[in-house]
Amino acid sequence: MKSRHQIYIHDNLEVMRNLPEQSVDLIYLDPPFNSKRMYEAPIGTKSEGAKFHDVWRMSDVKDHWFGELSEQYPALGEFIASVIIMQGKLAKNRSDLAAYLIFMGIRLAEMKWLLKDSGSIYLHCDPTAGHYLKIMMDYVFGAKNFCNEIVWSYKSGGASMKTFAKKHDVIFYYARNAKNVAFFPMKEKSYNRDLKPYQFKDVEEYEDETGWYTLVNMKDVWTIDMVGRTSRERTGYPTQKPVALLERIIKAGSRQGDLVLDPFCGCATTNVASAMLGRNSIGVDVSRLAGKLIHDRLQSYKDRHPLVTLNETVKVEYKCPALPKSRRRPRVVLDYAKPKVPAQREYATAAEKKAARRADWSARNGICPGCREFVHFRFTELDRRVPGAEGGKYTPDNTRFLCTDCNRNKKDEYLSDDALYQNYLKRKHAEQEADRRESSAD
Ligand SMILES: C[S@@+](CC[C@H](N)C(=O)[O-])C[C@H]1O[C@@H](n2cnc3c(N)ncnc32)[C@H](O)[C@@H]1O
Repeated sequence: MKSRHQIYIHDNLEVMRNLPEQSVDLIYLDPPFNSKRMYEAPIGTKSEGAKFHDVWRMSDVKDHWFGELSEQYPALGEFIASVIIMQGKLAKNRSDLAAYLIFMGIRLAEMKWLLKDSGSIYLHCDPTAGHYLKIMMDYVFGAKNFCNEIVWSYKSGGASMKTFAKKHDVIFYYARNAKNVAFFPMKEKSYNRDLKPYQFKDVEEYEDETGWYTLVNMKDVWTIDMVGRTSRERTGYPTQKPVALLERIIKAGSRQGDLVLDPFCGCATTNVASAMLGRNSIGVDVSRLAGKLIHDRLQSYKDRHPLVTLNETVKVEYKCPALPKSRRRPRVVLDYAKPKVPAQREYATAAEKKAARRADWSARNGICPGCREFVHFRFTELDRRVPGAEGGKYTPDNTRFLCTDCNRNKKDEYLSDDALYQNYLKRKHAEQEADRRESSAD
């Protein structure tokens, strides 16, 4: 069966925003895990020179992403806000975990747009940030669409003397819509106790070199070898995943001719496995060196793949085309500065005021203009710049959000954002002085 494989060497957010809605059957993603490490391919391997960083800073995250995400998924915005508070950092040095979650959240939201109603997504992560990612998946895809937490267990890697050896990754499987999801169950061997035949009525038993077994539905713990130093499929690309792992996911979540997307494709393991199974695929990776490697890997697959008997009817086309033109309307209106009521019409209802407060909070990434610190949405109020006593109204250009503290301390007068901040600094200074006097009096 002829299959097509497209590779984009580009930031995946931009690529995904240019793909048609509901066009993808299966997404597998193996993103950076927030491991705070730099990955580099060993010298002398096919991937020599390939590297990617997995250390996160707020400067890696575009200012408007948090706002966009909160607009589409307000509860997810609040969840990330709680993470920032939990980490106890001030606005300017917000935590790397939050930066990572914003980076991932905005992309997961995009993936949901791309999946067909029968589609599914497999998010590969490890215990470093997996518990946060699962909550994000619940917000984006819905907890009711959670299907499995797959444990991929392996032997390789080191061990610490202070913990149990860490020998598994986690793969969260979610459906776009659990009622319609395309899932193709698979069987696995279950060896009999003592490896002897049970001879139960109506139970088929088989024997291999290990002993007697029955066939049962595949379980959610998978033991598959990592790509080791001596493994024939090894390219040397850091964090390369085994084809056998991808084969299993692709078989379970797609049919021949379906489209599989891997937005963090690395050395194209998903594309190679898709080609082997007659699926079409799209791979995206931001690393140029990954691009060269992918090219070589897919080209050589066509003639000779060390692990598989090549199905002669599979035709791999390597493409690195220009980005397709967007074929759909923009998904998010990013115009936070202009709330959705006509200019100067007063917000009439509590719901309109709350929406205006949230839009401003999102647009400012949760940073209060008074104290310039991050504040949880729950502890904010809608302020009239020109106060009510002077005839100020709840109109779009006369309102802003403030934290409850700054709003309480604001006198009944007009104060620009800068003037509010100056007042805040004076107040802080006065408090510190008072503390100092009190402690010297003691
Ligand atoms: C864990 S590796 C994926 C390994 C892959 N599963 C394989 O088997 O080779 C993560 C990949 O994500 C890529 N990446 C990181 N940020 C990206 C972005 N914004 N867009 C596209 N790719 C990105 C990195 O270059 C890296 O190759």
